[in-house]
Amino acid sequence: MSEFSDEKILESWHQNAKAWINSIEHREIESRILVTNKAIVDCILDKNPLNVLDIGCGEGWLSRELNNFGIQTLGIDAVPELIDEATKKGKGNFKLIPYEDISKENIHEKFDVAVCNFSLIGNESVKKIFKNLPELLTKNGYFIVQTLHPILGCGDSAYQDGWRKGSWKGFSDSFTNPAPWYFRTLDTWINLFVTNGFIINSIIEPIHPKTKSIASILFVGKLKTVNNSNNP
Ligand SMILES: C[S@@+](CC[C@H](N)C(=O)[O-])C[C@H]1O[C@@H](n2cnc3c(N)ncnc32)[C@H](O)[C@@H]1O
Repeated sequence: MSEFSDEKILESWHQNAKAWINSIEHREIESRILVTNKAIVDCILDKNPLNVLDIGCGEGWLSRELNNFGIQTLGIDAVPELIDEATKKGKGNFKLIPYEDISKENIHEKFDVAVCNFSLIGNESVKKIFKNLPELLTKNGYFIVQTLHPILGCGDSAYQDGWRKGSWKGFSDSFTNPAPWYFRTLDTWINLFVTNGFIINSIIEPIHPKTKSIASILFVGKLKTVNNSNNP
């Protein structure tokens, strides 16, 4: 297995599922508690969805939160331990589906919103989601992605797309074998949306209330309306 690959990412998440469950349960990630959780929930609620597809749902906190607002959810992830935990905690449906298998053959429902909250990490698997997602969204449906801001995430490396070494800096010692991740420039993120049938509805840059620096970036893509009419 190559050091930089989508498979390596999944290998890491299989190994770190327990540590992740603990870290969410004990509210260990300060930026989530202070800013990014609210940012993603508010952004979704703003679209008034009846149902939401939570892609890379982890242990399912976001789905549970949306269910509290009466929104139906399907959470999907490739790690059995995380899906089991999400199912055990209840609220919403959860299924073991890797990104590579997201398609209308495997998911027989359409959604008003699909969301990826810090769950787009790799390269090919991410491209595949963008390609196959439009057929799973209702007309004018939204695809909302919260991720590391490219300006913050770039660090001292060249500002160009490519694999980067992972790190669990800031996380507890129970985490191991950090996953590599695929860095994308702002331009590449926007292109992923527009070349796969979306317009960019908005871009949101939440600010960390303590450090006053950018905490993340949210891309809100809206499915382009296809005009099937033969009339000019
Ligand atoms: C940082 S966690 C985020 C979890 C959740 N969205 C949250 O906000 O807490 C990243 C998640 O992406 C999932 N993931 C990564 N690659 C995946 C793939 N190819 N297929 C399915 N899930 C994947 C991991 O298993 C993990 O649950």
